[in-house]
Amino acid sequence: MDKNGLGHVIEFVRNDYLCKVLFINLIIHKKMVSYKDLGLVNTKEMFAKAIKGGYAIPAFNFNNMEQLQAIIQACAETKSPVILQVSKGARQYANQTLLRYMAEGAVEYAKELGWEHPQIVLHLDHGDSFELCKSCVDMGFSSVMIDGSHLPYDENVALTKKVVEYAHQFDVTVEGELGVLAGVEDEVSAEHHTYTKPEEVVDFVTKTGVDSLAISIGTSHGANKFKPEQCTRNADGILVPPPLRFDVLEAIEKELPGFPIVLHGSSSVPQEEVATINKYGGALKDAIGIPEEELRKAAASAVCKINIDSDSRLAMTAAIREVFALKPAEFDPRKYLGPARENMKKLYKHKIIDVLGSEGKAE
Ligand code: G3H
Ligand code: 13P
Ligand code: ZN
Repeated sequence: MDKNGLGHVIEFVRNDYLCKVLFINLIIHKKMVSYKDLGLVNTKEMFAKAIKGGYAIPAFNFNNMEQLQAIIQACAETKSPVILQVSKGARQYANQTLLRYMAEGAVEYAKELGWEHPQIVLHLDHGDSFELCKSCVDMGFSSVMIDGSHLPYDENVALTKKVVEYAHQFDVTVEGELGVLAGVEDEVSAEHHTYTKPEEVVDFVTKTGVDSLAISIGTSHGANKFKPEQCTRNADGILVPPPLRFDVLEAIEKELPGFPIVLHGSSSVPQEEVATINKYGGALKDAIGIPEEELRKAAASAVCKINIDSDSRLAMTAAIREVFALKPAEFDPRKYLGPARENMKKLYKHKIIDVLGSEGKAE
């Protein structure tokens, strides 16, 4: 096209309203990335299979390379589907764009490790606004959580519905939440659990169109899930936490047969990792998690996504503290991040094989 011709095109775009809208859309869509082009999948089929098969998909948080390598190695070796979770805090720490590229790289890495058909979801954990969810959808996430659980019911419905309407245009799945977990969720903290009300779930799911529902039945975030006074002690003097409210879960399942349920705050806080951390200078007091037999029971039910973050942090910290204490002259980060990665991988494989039952479900 000659210089004059190009001038006419620019002039036309500038003057014609419809053309201007199309042009802006073209620019926006050019910037949009579909998770499908990155080799990622959404949660739809994964959850349907998990409910039918009586197992749960591990949802592991990541914010650094060693964590991601450990997750992918563990999943490739066990052929387990996996949900890679990015929290708002992780986004701020590591940069959302970088994390997205890391997830894209993870798909290629998985194949390189011999996992022919990796089933990997990239999920926003605890999204707290429409804008944040939209930005994740636009940049290649295949699933988002909109956590309106701290809002009044009607506001939670309205916000969740808005996110669903946007995300579904791009085949991105959405997790909503009803009920409040005790403990800290990003900047929001609650002293007590507000268990999910089974009588609300059908209305919430119908009005919002969510693909899965996170519920509150007694789990909580972090490494101190229960106060010692909430626990009993076994014969050896070890703290035993109060049981999860399986009655609430069963009532929810009755209301929503076959609907995917999500459990947050499901770290078990392995006492051997806590002991290693404290042995080598740490100060974790009264750390306690969810017993693994309870998670096994939940995984066999409609619970098809189990969120684990704190256990990975403990495994990493324990390994690093041990190297620092035993090899004080060591200053090559690979010499302590390497053992940390190995310890996390061991943990992830254990969760997949012995707790959630997702081994071999993504051959
Ligand atoms: O649900 C919370 C996750 O453990 C993420 O924690 O916000 O500190 O990254 P974070
Ligand atoms: P934990 O703190 O028990 O690992 O929970 C993680 C979580 O729920 C992430 O959303
Ligand atoms: Zn959570």
